Amino acid sequence: MTGTVLVTYGTTNGSTARIAGAIADVLRGEGLTVEALPARSVASVAPYDAVVAGGGVYAGRWQKHARRFLRRHRRALAERPLWLFSSGPLDASAAERDIPPVPGVKKAMAELDAREHVTFGGCLEEGAKGPVARMILRNGKGGDFRDFTAIRTWAAHVAHELTHEGA
Ligand SMILES: Cc1cc2nc3c(=O)[nH]c(=O)nc-3n(C[C@H](O)[C@H](O)[C@H](O)COP(=O)(O)O)c2cc1C
Repeated sequence: MTGTVLVTYGTTNGSTARIAGAIADVLRGEGLTVEALPARSVASVAPYDAVVAGGGVYAGRWQKHARRFLRRHRRALAERPLWLFSSGPLDASAAERDIPPVPGVKKAMAELDAREHVTFGGCLEEGAKGPVARMILRNGKGGDFRDFTAIRTWAAHVAHELTHEGA
């Protein structure tokens, strides 16, 4: 593919941003031109030929900027190759099995004809915002469950699809 890939993310505590950064690095390494941006900073999807979008999961929904991104840009997204990822579970479950998208993302996938969705483990560490986050941390249920090997493997697969289809 010639053209530019947008990798965008909705994050509250920063862990989804690092996942997006790792995905962008792999795509660049495969020779693609990539822009990585927070979802709330994307004014238009028009400059991009393909999109990878991700969101942290909060109480069964994508983080709000990620949700808004899908809603605001739905027409342009429906016309472009689109991959979605979530970052959520604060345990090993994402490494053990496929975790389906939350209902809102599942619906968006169908509406936007997204190629794929994957759930990666999440991360919650000291300094996270909000009383519920602090309670989870107090109860010893935080931690970093992101698997950067799995993230890079998935990104390489996306790159392969983009570079082999002339999208
Ligand atoms: C208040 C709160 C609610 C959460 N709800 C969910 C949830 O419903 N499902 C899930 O898989 N993870 C949930 N998590 C874990 C987050 O998705 C995880 O920490 C994620 O990596 C956060 O992304 P971010 O750092 O990019 O904001 C929750 C975390 C917090 C603090």
